[in-house]
Amino acid sequence: MKVAVIGAGYVGSVTGAAFAASGRQVTVIDSDPRKVDRINAGKSPIYEPGLDALIDAAVRRRLLSASDRYDSIREADIVFIAVGTPSRPDGTADLTYVKSAADGIGAAINPDRFTVVVDKSTVPVGTAELVAARIEERSGLAHGKAFAVASNPEFLREGYALEDVFYPDRIVVGTGHPKARRALRKLYGPLLERKAYGVPADVIPQPTEAKAETIYFETDAKSAELIKYVSNAFLAVKISYINEVARLCEAIGADVTDVAAGVGLDSRIGGKFLQVSSGWSGSCFPKDTAELLSASRKYGSELTVVRAAVDSNRGMHEFCVEKIRRRLKSLIGRRVGVLGLTFKPNTDDARQTQASVIIGGLLELGASVSVHDPQGMAMFRTLNPKLEVRYCATGEETADGADAVVLLTHWDDYALLDWQAMRKRMRTPYVLDTRNFLRKKPWSEWGYEYEGIGIGTVRRRR
Ligand code: UDX
Ligand code: UDX
Repeated sequence: MKVAVIGAGYVGSVTGAAFAASGRQVTVIDSDPRKVDRINAGKSPIYEPGLDALIDAAVRRRLLSASDRYDSIREADIVFIAVGTPSRPDGTADLTYVKSAADGIGAAINPDRFTVVVDKSTVPVGTAELVAARIEERSGLAHGKAFAVASNPEFLREGYALEDVFYPDRIVVGTGHPKARRALRKLYGPLLERKAYGVPADVIPQPTEAKAETIYFETDAKSAELIKYVSNAFLAVKISYINEVARLCEAIGADVTDVAAGVGLDSRIGGKFLQVSSGWSGSCFPKDTAELLSASRKYGSELTVVRAAVDSNRGMHEFCVEKIRRRLKSLIGRRVGVLGLTFKPNTDDARQTQASVIIGGLLELGASVSVHDPQGMAMFRTLNPKLEVRYCATGEETADGADAVVLLTHWDDYALLDWQAMRKRMRTPYVLDTRNFLRKKPWSEWGYEYEGIGIGTVRRRR
């Protein structure tokens, strides 16, 4: 079975490598020559734990290759579209790249064989029809005869993408076409049986927790497209909810970690995605909640709960800036160190991160800001050229002359920092830990004032 994947980003590169690992012949197509070269050299085009080894093993066994051309579409049984679908200023998804991929498919598709085209990217409801129409226009072929378009949304979490692609809770396939259904069932067979036919078992990650059997879920294209948005928006609502509960805990004097644990024990709720933060962010939740909201308004049935979660999330970023301002009285002439620029640990993805909003707020109030991130500094700097901050080579450096150090992203690296030594580098020993990640350290003994979110303040020992 031959597979083509258009787009070698956070989704396409993982998706292509996983199908190669299950013994398929996979070509990843990308317009960025650097990504094409990296994959053909057996390297991952993005930072994702475990992906380098997987791509290297698949390329060595000639199961995976990359190209900047659409030639491989001619021989492909299944073609995945995994290009970017960034937000437009009005919040709707920009389908420029999806349309360009559909046009590329239309120009290269083989009229003598049946091709299944699959939307893997997160795309607005109705995009499968749009892709089908563009391929018909460009190829002169009829949808349903020479090809069919299906929706097969991804549920990958960055930093855990390999675990999520090999041990997903569910595989959602949206199409009514029997040939497309048959082809996709065949493609996913090895992954459902959790067998890696093409590569040594040691390059397939073991799940970090017990994983129930993967459910293969078939529906129509529109429902599959909507499942993705509704899932992501629900996760965002859940996080906004616990972050607001954390603020209530501060007012009441309760401990949000225990509240979340106690609530999460209810199997109807579950303990995941109840971890406190300075708010959710990244390349998916903001874009997917915005698109779903605008779609719900367009269809005259606005999801007001999602709108409330988006507003509440913005308020959470502001709440963290206000916490620092309140503690330091004024930020004018003050220096704040910021640990963590990526939207979560174990990724280099610094797109739409809470850090850019929070740092912007601190600068606006007159603070100077020093920043560090183990993986995301380069992308953050490129995406935020106007942000006047000091980029530090180490996490410790963010403490130099600082009146506050704020942990935004819970990288393990930050638990290993020499916090005792950092105390002497700071002008005011105040730490705000927006993930409650370091709460167990002896802050008071080290002479710090430590604050979390929803867990009260640890005063420094006089
Ligand atoms: C993308 C979507 O943004 C997201 O909504 C969806 O959930 C999964 O697919 P991601 O993989 O992060 O997520 O996109 P990105 O990292 O931007 O990668 C897209 C790749 O497609 C880039 O490497 C880009 O070079 C490539 N591309 C884009 C093409 O090869 N051709 C194009 O016409 C446009
Ligand atoms: C998300 C979905 O989880 C995934 O299924 C979908 O395919 C893409 O979008 P991702 O954006 O990679 O994945 O990251 P995720 O782990 O969901 O975190 C999203 C944001 O929520 C991050 O900013 C993270 O820090 C935050 N978060 C997550 C919390 O604040 N608290 C939590 O408990 C979990």
